[in-house]
Amino acid sequence: MLKKTFATRVAVVLATAVVLIPAGAHSAARLTIHADQPVSTVSPTLYGLMTEEINYSYDGGLYAEMVRNRTFGADWSGVQHWILLENGAAQAKMGGDRGTGPSKAMSHSLRLDVAKADAENQAGVLNVGYWGMAVRPETTYKGSFWAKADGAEIGPVTVALVNNQSGKAEGKTTVPGVGKEWKQFEFTLKTGQLEASAQNHLELTVGHAGTLWLSLVSLFPPTYHDRPNGFRVDLMEKLAEMHPQFLRFPGGNYLEGDHIAERFDWKKMIGPVVDRPTHRSPWGYLSTDGMGLLEFLDWCEDLKMSPVLAVYAGYSMAQEHVAPGPELEPYVQDALDEIEYVTGGPDTKWGAVRVTDGHPAPFKLMYVEVGNEDNFDRSGSYEGRYAQFYKAIKTKYPELQVIATMPLKNMKPDVQDDHYYVRAQTFFQDQTHYDKIDRNGPKIFVGEWATREGAPTPNFGAALGDAAWMTGLERNSDLVVMAAYAPLLTNINPGGLQWDTDLIGYDALRSYGSPSYYAQVMFGSYLGSETPATKLEGVAAVPEGGTPKFFHSVTRDAAKKKLYVKLVNASTTAQTLDIALPGAKLATDGKLVALHAHNTQATNTIEHPTQVVPAESVLHGVGEKMSHTVPGLSIEVLVLEEK
Ligand code: AHR
Repeated sequence: MLKKTFATRVAVVLATAVVLIPAGAHSAARLTIHADQPVSTVSPTLYGLMTEEINYSYDGGLYAEMVRNRTFGADWSGVQHWILLENGAAQAKMGGDRGTGPSKAMSHSLRLDVAKADAENQAGVLNVGYWGMAVRPETTYKGSFWAKADGAEIGPVTVALVNNQSGKAEGKTTVPGVGKEWKQFEFTLKTGQLEASAQNHLELTVGHAGTLWLSLVSLFPPTYHDRPNGFRVDLMEKLAEMHPQFLRFPGGNYLEGDHIAERFDWKKMIGPVVDRPTHRSPWGYLSTDGMGLLEFLDWCEDLKMSPVLAVYAGYSMAQEHVAPGPELEPYVQDALDEIEYVTGGPDTKWGAVRVTDGHPAPFKLMYVEVGNEDNFDRSGSYEGRYAQFYKAIKTKYPELQVIATMPLKNMKPDVQDDHYYVRAQTFFQDQTHYDKIDRNGPKIFVGEWATREGAPTPNFGAALGDAAWMTGLERNSDLVVMAAYAPLLTNINPGGLQWDTDLIGYDALRSYGSPSYYAQVMFGSYLGSETPATKLEGVAAVPEGGTPKFFHSVTRDAAKKKLYVKLVNASTTAQTLDIALPGAKLATDGKLVALHAHNTQATNTIEHPTQVVPAESVLHGVGEKMSHTVPGLSIEVLVLEEK
């Protein structure tokens, strides 16, 4: 289990990093902060997570399942990610069987015909995992499979986690009792002393001739908070460090699907996984649907995030839409049922289903989003579709805030979701975007945004663009109630990624945060509750048509009596600030959290995960008047304590 927290990483960096201030600096600028004059509130839910099944974010990512293609889907090349095993003199054949399976939802399986096998010459199958399987020392793995056989002769199934290079079984057990009817079997595999590695696979073998059918072969490592069907620990810890206040799910395009039949059909993604049929995600691969509605809600609970529930709204990306009116009604009802599943008591139909699924307490829900990026619907049906959902949701749940996915002409939605995927220069130029927006319009949810520079994960130049943009979001968070970077996760193996520039990268064993991730951690950790009046003067003038390179936002946490001064210097030249805090009584020592690199292309990778990470130090000389120099190419948070 990876147990390195943000704090320990910072400490490691402190011991080793030297932040160089380039020779020559801009002449000093003046930043005046009237800490006792709040001009606007900061939304307590400003920073959160946006997520969907893209880049193997869940399968092969956050969802800790280790077996790939656990339900034995096949294509022209055969059953993917499964290999036939004929050890020694054993003889066998394998193939997909569409005629039998353990449930109505899972009506197919793998058929293994063993012509010859014995205890020393076993036959079976192996699974390669999601680019390998992470095996760690002294760890218990919990597994299960569904199976039936043509007779008792097939004998017990031997299950082993095997190292690809040494061939050593790092954990092994036998599972007896496979009979003529489909049945689920559970097992555990325990490892001993070994070097953690991703180069392992899972074997299931038998020592007698006969026919064996297998379905839903599953193996989980220890999960975050030990949840069954749960989440990878290292990734959850990384997400927790961002202090996310909400989770927007399940998409993104993943909500819509390419076709209506491929939408996020939540009723098919609850209850035992054997009753979930799986479906094709718009990002080109099959989703196990192990991450269903309740798992998303569990995730919210684990990280104390508010769910922002996006409901399917009758548009799928291949320009398929459902016309507003009677045709749309079943989809509206589905959304109402979904809200009831999330929030209803045991006395409601869908609340009772949630109780049966294992979560007696209702979840608190504040926001429901109707669709995703409906500006792409060329039929122009969204105004009508949104209005129909809005009316039905508000009638039953007047307290809910209903988010629209595009600007509307005919009505004012509660909240409007804006998306931005741009280069750093664009964010530098546009960071005042929301300074100019009418406060009488809808509240704003920046439901997806990112500086797209760097692949598979953003580099330091992107982090500068992100940080500049976030200063604008903070200054305007009376209007911008929520914002989420996207996409959040990517498996960095070949074929793992469908979208460049994702916040956190990983393989089966390891994970790392990009420089943009650390910018998020810094902004999310020091949010504040109000924005005091500030004035910045004398920053190097921006030439006509040029791009501003210095950005700031100041927030105050009224409860903790702390001031957070965020400074972003995207130029290569240091900027000195004479900071005045008229009337403020401050502890003379504050804290400086700084993220710095020598150029915009500096980045973190799976092999070098801590090249660009924040460094913490004591900020001496804090007072009503203080001087502070921000090195070129730096993102900083100054934490000042009121006495
Ligand atoms: O974040 C990747 C995709 O970008 C989302 O699925 C979609 O909403 C947007 O176009």
